[in-house]
Amino acid sequence: MTKRVVTLAHYYTQPEIQQMADKVGDSLELSLYAKEANADIIVFAGVRFMAETAKILNPQAEVILPDAGSTCSLVTQTDVAALAKWRKQHPDHVHVSYINSSAEHKALSDWIVTSRNVDDIIAHLYAEGKKVIFSPDRNMGGYLNYQYGYDMPLWSAVCEVHDKFNEAALDEAFAVAGAEKYLIAHPESPLPVLKKADYVGSTSGMLNWVKQFSGSPDAVIFVATEDGILYNMGLARPDLDLRQAPIYAGCQCNSCPYMKMNTIEAVKRAQQGVGLRIDYLSREQMDAARLPIERMLEFSQRYYA
Ligand code: 13P
Ligand code: SF4
Repeated sequence: MTKRVVTLAHYYTQPEIQQMADKVGDSLELSLYAKEANADIIVFAGVRFMAETAKILNPQAEVILPDAGSTCSLVTQTDVAALAKWRKQHPDHVHVSYINSSAEHKALSDWIVTSRNVDDIIAHLYAEGKKVIFSPDRNMGGYLNYQYGYDMPLWSAVCEVHDKFNEAALDEAFAVAGAEKYLIAHPESPLPVLKKADYVGSTSGMLNWVKQFSGSPDAVIFVATEDGILYNMGLARPDLDLRQAPIYAGCQCNSCPYMKMNTIEAVKRAQQGVGLRIDYLSREQMDAARLPIERMLEFSQRYYA
């Protein structure tokens, strides 16, 4: 019997890969889709933590990552044994972890969040009188502390792509961009960049902001995130002047090397069943990691339905 293959792609993959996918989205959308997918094989054109999340949510499916090297710096910069110690040092805190984390990391967490729901979930926890520690992204956590006046202790890892966006380079680009200019940014960017943003949110959130833009047709919109999503934004609003925010003067080249490992050949091979099979997580590891993910999905369905 032919196997049902479902291909998922993140916005940061190249346009040809997105065109090969059954679903393109941000981390939350892809997790939800993976959970509900009626598939024998899920090919995840994204990075490893995304494929692991898909497997945890849909353990019956065989999940394949096209290139085993597709990791994420937020994962590789986090030593899980050290994280476990850090968590123990805060026994009266709720541990909230960004979805850009390994399965072992998730299993040490009370809640998983994505860039789409992190503000609302942490606000909900504070409203309940809880104290929170946040890992692994110190830029995202630092932004939340700044924006909402929290005092969350933070783990210290960064996205190597977003961390390069630079305030001075942005000021230079703004200075020559004309009268009307905007900045939209992913919360993995550094705080000085986020402080200048007109909108901070997930990849889908930024895409929606662009779709709904009603300012001057002469406006310049700088986008502080990985370059892949410029494709989706350009498709949605070809009338707008959209530019990737600079990392230093004159250079607009922030690209995620791990997302770009999803080449056409690698994705086609994965669709034939060849690639990194996510079959190395034990049932106990998956069960422990699923709890905080399901808590987030349940919250998201309740609040955003
Ligand atoms: P989103 O959930 O906003 O798509 O972010 C995923 C990611 O890895 C950003 O670098
Ligand atoms: Fe990880 Fe950054 Fe790449 Fe996203 S863009 S997958 S956070 S390294």
